[in-house]
Amino acid sequence: MANLFHHCFVIYLILLDCFYLCLPTASAELQRFKQPVKEDGSLSFLVIGDWGRNGYYNQTEVAAQMGRIGEELSTDFVVSTGDNFYEDGLRNIRDPTFKRSFTKVYTAKSLQKQWYTVLGNHDYRGNVRAQLSPTLRNIDGRWLCLRSFIVNAEIAELFFIDTTPFVDKYFSKPKHHRYDWRGVMPRQQYLSNLLKELQTALQDSIASWKIVIGHHTIKSIGHHGETTELVQRLLPILEANNVDMYINGHDHCLEHMSSINSLIQFLTSGGGSKAWKGDFDQLNRDGLKFYYDGQGFMSLQVTETEAKIAFHDISGHSLHSFSLFKQPNLHAGSTSEE
Ligand SMILES: *[C@@H]1O[C@H](CO)[C@@H](O)[C@H](O)[C@H]1NC(C)=O
Repeated sequence: MANLFHHCFVIYLILLDCFYLCLPTASAELQRFKQPVKEDGSLSFLVIGDWGRNGYYNQTEVAAQMGRIGEELSTDFVVSTGDNFYEDGLRNIRDPTFKRSFTKVYTAKSLQKQWYTVLGNHDYRGNVRAQLSPTLRNIDGRWLCLRSFIVNAEIAELFFIDTTPFVDKYFSKPKHHRYDWRGVMPRQQYLSNLLKELQTALQDSIASWKIVIGHHTIKSIGHHGETTELVQRLLPILEANNVDMYINGHDHCLEHMSSINSLIQFLTSGGGSKAWKGDFDQLNRDGLKFYYDGQGFMSLQVTETEAKIAFHDISGHSLHSFSLFKQPNLHAGSTSEE
């Protein structure tokens, strides 16, 4: 009898366990993906942002040079910093914009790799669930878009962060825009869970290079300037966890800034199509290493001890490049300019 009771109790516990585990919790861990490195242990990839305009505004020209540089560096994957489809994201999973702005533009052989993509504020103006839908992979197998996730590439770990929900004005002053906040509410809980998960994942990371990617700027002299909400809430976590680079789009330019507070390099790759000529802050230039107000993209070549970063214009020319160095298994780094 006692035995039977014990038996039932165990089953009850198992059921209870399943009940809790099976509940969709807002604090589920960030989804992780494994990205293999090359045979020699290195990694190379391209970064493009603010691009989907049906090939217009030099999007096609930028894509062609990405193809060429991608071939040269034999890139392993492509990162998109968001604002993937202008003006208002995707309407649904059959929206022809997906093919017109992605599949039919990035046609080069070297770009037929995995694309890791976050959402930008313009994507949030459309049907976010459509853009996140795995069904898009049936149309183009390269597409991987999630809100926040981690790519483990052995020597480097890439942390993709959904930055749009941080920005107050999209909630308080949306103007005539409508944002698709399904899955984001309640907002403060969404944000604090995300920051908590990021903090834990960064702390646990043993990769040589920690790279955080989001759509919005942290440090920039471009049109949008810094994103106050990210400076307040995200930056302290990056600084406390020896993050090497924060890569974003949002400002339609190419830009490199450093900081006196940390070794973090702030890199903007938002030149995927329409660029904003002449629209930047002439005065506030602390830490500015490079600014280009035309179109282009960024490339990274990474080994365990060196990360070489270059910015390319629409002719493929390298406009600015620099390397970060690291002792094997040490977190301290240094910068050298070319
Ligand atoms: C395309 O790029 C060229 C070279 O940078 C530039 O002169 C031209 O204005 C660009 N066109 C558009 C539509 O942005």
